[in-house]
Amino acid sequence: MATLKLGVLGSGSGSNMQSIVDAVGSGELDAEVKLVLADVPDARILERARRHGIPCRYLDCAPWKTKLEGRAEEECIRLLKEAGCDTVVLAGFMRIVKPGLLSAFPMRVLNIHPSLLPAFPGVHSWKQALDYGCKVAGVTVHFVDAGTDTGPIIVQRCVPVLEDDTPETLHARIQEQEHIAYPEALRRLAAGELRMDGRRVTVQG
Ligand code: GRF
Repeated sequence: MATLKLGVLGSGSGSNMQSIVDAVGSGELDAEVKLVLADVPDARILERARRHGIPCRYLDCAPWKTKLEGRAEEECIRLLKEAGCDTVVLAGFMRIVKPGLLSAFPMRVLNIHPSLLPAFPGVHSWKQALDYGCKVAGVTVHFVDAGTDTGPIIVQRCVPVLEDDTPETLHARIQEQEHIAYPEALRRLAAGELRMDGRRVTVQG
C-alpha cells in the first residue's frame, strides 16, 4: 500500500495535481491520490482526475467565497476521511483553510505558493514580484498553519526574472518549478525525512 494517501483540493487547471499523479505513475513518489475535490464545478482539475480514474467531485463551498468553513469544511473533512486520505494537498485551491481542516489532519496539510515566501503572500504573487523589480522569483511548498501562506517551508525553488518578462511568462517559468517542487516535498514527506525544529523543517536522510 502507498505510504501517502493524498486528498487534493483545487480550483483551477490542476497542473500541480498532474505533476503529482505523474510522479506516482513513474514510481518516483510513493503515494496514491485517493480523492480530488474542487470548489469550481467545471474546474479542469476534475477533468484531469476523471481521465486518470481518480475519484473526484465538486465541493459546494457557498455561502463563503474565499474560505473553507462551516458545512463545506465538515463535508470536505468527511469526504477526505471516507476516502482514506491521510494528507491534504492544496493545489491551486483559492480558499483559506480554517482550523477545522488543520486539526483533522495535523501537520498533514500542504500548500504550494508561487513566490519565495515570506515575500509576496496572497494572490498574483508572480505579478507582485515583477512589479516590485525582483531579480529572482520562485515557488514555495509549505505546511499550512493558521495564517495565510505562513506555514513551515519544506521546499523552495528559484527562477530568474528576465528583462522582457510579462506576468504570464514569469508565471509559466515558476510553474515549471512548481511541478518539480511539489513531488519533491511529498517524496521527502513519504520517506519520513522531514523533521521539525521550531518552525524550521530540516531534511534527514
Ligand atoms: C499555481 O500557480 C499555484 O502555485 C497556485 O495556484 C496555481 C495552481 O495551478 N497556488 P494549477 O491548478 O496546479 O495548474
